[in-house]
Amino acid sequence: MNYSTYQTEAIEKDMHVFLDRYLPKRKPISLDDYDWSAIENSSADVEFMEAVAFVTLVESNPEAPAQVLLAASDRSNSPWLRRFITETWLQEESMHAVPYKEYLIRTGSYSRTFIETEIKKVIDRGFIHGSGYTELQAATYGWLQELITWRFYETMREYLQNQQSAENPSTKLLIKILDDIAKQENFHRHVYKTGIATILKYQPFRKNEVVKAAVQFTMPGHHMAPEWQSKAPHWATKYNFPIKKLIQDMTKGLVEFTGYRGLGQASLLYGLHNKIFFPWHLRALINVLKPVANWSYNSPFNYLTGRIIAKAF
Ligand SMILES: [Fe+2]
Ligand SMILES: [Fe+2]
Repeated sequence: MNYSTYQTEAIEKDMHVFLDRYLPKRKPISLDDYDWSAIENSSADVEFMEAVAFVTLVESNPEAPAQVLLAASDRSNSPWLRRFITETWLQEESMHAVPYKEYLIRTGSYSRTFIETEIKKVIDRGFIHGSGYTELQAATYGWLQELITWRFYETMREYLQNQQSAENPSTKLLIKILDDIAKQENFHRHVYKTGIATILKYQPFRKNEVVKAAVQFTMPGHHMAPEWQSKAPHWATKYNFPIKKLIQDMTKGLVEFTGYRGLGQASLLYGLHNKIFFPWHLRALINVLKPVANWSYNSPFNYLTGRIIAKAF
């Protein structure tokens, strides 16, 4: 057995032990989990329902990203990733749009025809991210996407809980739906994060793949539902999305996976494309360092930038 076979087998072994522990207990949500009679005779907040419609759309075609994840798993000879997708991820994700859609239709916020026409557009657009990815790059994409989605649902839930209408049966129903789905997204985040940590434990020389996938990252909604995704920054402000907390999570994860060097390099490169995530003082720093942002992973400046950014949050 050569060293690399040993590494691959050790990763597989650890990941299957991990999946054995959690997957048998998983259960997709179902329409029967909810008391739909709670909606009778209630009116819904029009703008909030627009955000619910957006998440319904981006949740409506999990088969497309599943194909990309499965291809990455096969390409990298990583059955653990295939197992997670086929045994749990796809079953759970396939149900996320279902109660949202039901809620929109039952509250009279959108017609079934309208939602289904929009879903068809989403399916036609497909999923463009991660072609050619290794299992490690795919796990990095998954980690970031699940993290953001989890936080977004938590934000929506907390917003509703702070409203005067929080005790209305129909609001309580939506709070429960958001809570149930958020918990699943958080579990998916945990699996990808564990996958990344396990791969790097045995193959630490692959840190650059994590940096690269993090830098290229954009939320799938930009392509799946562009005219809806463009409203996300407005919702983030209105519903008080904890950007700082999110950056802390990303920063902590990247330091854990790739050290300060990786964080520094990822932050520099990412900052050039997505300035919105950075407060003004870091944007200034990034602009100063822009000319050298393509330095190699080993550059001492990446280490320094990583330290500064990790401290700033
Ligand atoms: Fe989801
Ligand atoms: Fe998810």
